[in-house]
Amino acid sequence: MGSEKIVITSALPYANGEIHLGHVVSTYLPADIYARFCRMKGYDVVFTCATDDYGTPILIRAEQEGKTPREYVEYWNKRDLEDFTKLGITFDIFYKTSSEENLKLTQYFFLRLYEKGYIYSAEVEQPYCKNDKKFLPDRYVVGRCPYCGAENQYSDGCEVCGRTFAAGEIKEPKCILCGTPPTTKRSVHYFFRLSQFSERLKAWLEGNTNLQTEVKNYVLRWIETGLKDWDITRDISWGVPIPLKEAEGKVLYGWFDNHLCYISTTIKYLEEKGIDGKKFWNSAKILHFIGKDIVYHHYLFLPAMRMGLDEEYALPYAIPTRGHLLLQGQKFSKSRGWYVSLREFLEYFPADYLRYYLASITPYSQADVNFDWREFAAKINNELVANIGNFVYRVLSFIYSRFEATVPQPKEPDELDTELIDRIKSTTVNVGSHIEKNELDRGLKSIVELSAFCNQYFQRKEPWKQSEKAANCLYYSVNATRSLAILLHPYIPYSTEELWRQLSLGGKLDLQSWDSAKELLIKGNHKISKPRVLFRKIAEEELEPWLERLKK
Ligand code: MF3
Ligand code: ZN
Repeated sequence: MGSEKIVITSALPYANGEIHLGHVVSTYLPADIYARFCRMKGYDVVFTCATDDYGTPILIRAEQEGKTPREYVEYWNKRDLEDFTKLGITFDIFYKTSSEENLKLTQYFFLRLYEKGYIYSAEVEQPYCKNDKKFLPDRYVVGRCPYCGAENQYSDGCEVCGRTFAAGEIKEPKCILCGTPPTTKRSVHYFFRLSQFSERLKAWLEGNTNLQTEVKNYVLRWIETGLKDWDITRDISWGVPIPLKEAEGKVLYGWFDNHLCYISTTIKYLEEKGIDGKKFWNSAKILHFIGKDIVYHHYLFLPAMRMGLDEEYALPYAIPTRGHLLLQGQKFSKSRGWYVSLREFLEYFPADYLRYYLASITPYSQADVNFDWREFAAKINNELVANIGNFVYRVLSFIYSRFEATVPQPKEPDELDTELIDRIKSTTVNVGSHIEKNELDRGLKSIVELSAFCNQYFQRKEPWKQSEKAANCLYYSVNATRSLAILLHPYIPYSTEELWRQLSLGGKLDLQSWDSAKELLIKGNHKISKPRVLFRKIAEEELEPWLERLKK
């Protein structure tokens, strides 16, 4: 301990549907690569996630399935964690927004903000169903789109034409539970004075150089055009109760409590280890990994709420934001079948293939990323198999069969050996600085370049000619292999862990130090294990069922 402290969070998935490749690309994979890297750097890392359990859509789905909301979210919590685990996502804790700990913290935040005058109440008209004797917030009302005429759309926006609309705009509104047209009823709602934080938010955004400029710029434009106060109340039973006597039967809007779960969950994890969680939080570098659809919430609500408590809980160091995933050039859509679930993908291909491909095509920006099945196969075949896999297998099998599995003793390095040593060192430094800056794709690219150089090195050294040069070639190559295993580990943990076993270096790869990739720690006479091919080619036929599915 005593080293740099890092808190990493990835946006909390709603507990109402399966994880798909879109979630993976923008949030979970980048956060995991970053977390694994930080651990290898020896930083003190807490990587936190949870399911986002509250909200009307979840309550409605639970009602439709005849389950209590609690049973319903439990199911998804368990299932999501299974999927993430298969992908090799290494959360230190995966918890839930509906926890006792989060309830306490959320109510505490509410009361502090209320006392300080940052929350006020006002009467508003809400849709109400006389038949069900219920308020009908958000998605409880369906009707016809006022713009394109599509039937059966939610009252806040149309999934067919993509327009959003204000309360009352939808045509022929109906209660989703019984079909009765809703009436309205007055209700007291609580509002968070987001508008009052404009100046502080602006100063924070402008002063924080770790936020992405492109995101910062448009958030600053939102502030310029004026922030609206934010209705944080829902007249439903599923949520964190508003802790005021006069607010009985009302709960907080899910976006009030969900991001507080980053804090409550991280602290729970630490306290169970006997560490002062709040102190840790406040002395850590905090990074919230998100997709671009929730920028508003993370760059405005989240910091404003923490500012409202005078930063009793520290603000984030960075909010790495990435774009959406397209599938063969088009938007993901579950209803149209233009969609790939994580679970299904992993039934056919190794997790590392997905991690490798997505990491290599995802920039540190809001640009959308395109998943293309043929490009996926080409990347795996040309880079993982023909470049990286080829080099390491060649080296290990050469040592295994021609040197009785024993690394030869080197002689003085020649010029080419020296170049290889230098490249190993500079690549380690480069990749590290790319990952620190969240340029994960660039980091991976440098590693691939190092591996390409290693292949050339081996080729030029011609060790099969059994000349003088063979011993050095294998000695330096096996050390390069060790370095590649370390550098690639955050990206493709399963295959590099296997490579580590083949190198017979003992211990687990994820416990090795990142900086040791610079060094030549395999000595002459070291014995390796029997090598095995790490990656297999993807054949054209394997893509057909996936491509076929998209034709319908
Ligand atoms: N569940 C939200 C979504 O999928 C994300 C919540 S992230 C949190 O859009 F910070 F707010 F919790
Ligand atoms: Zn009704």
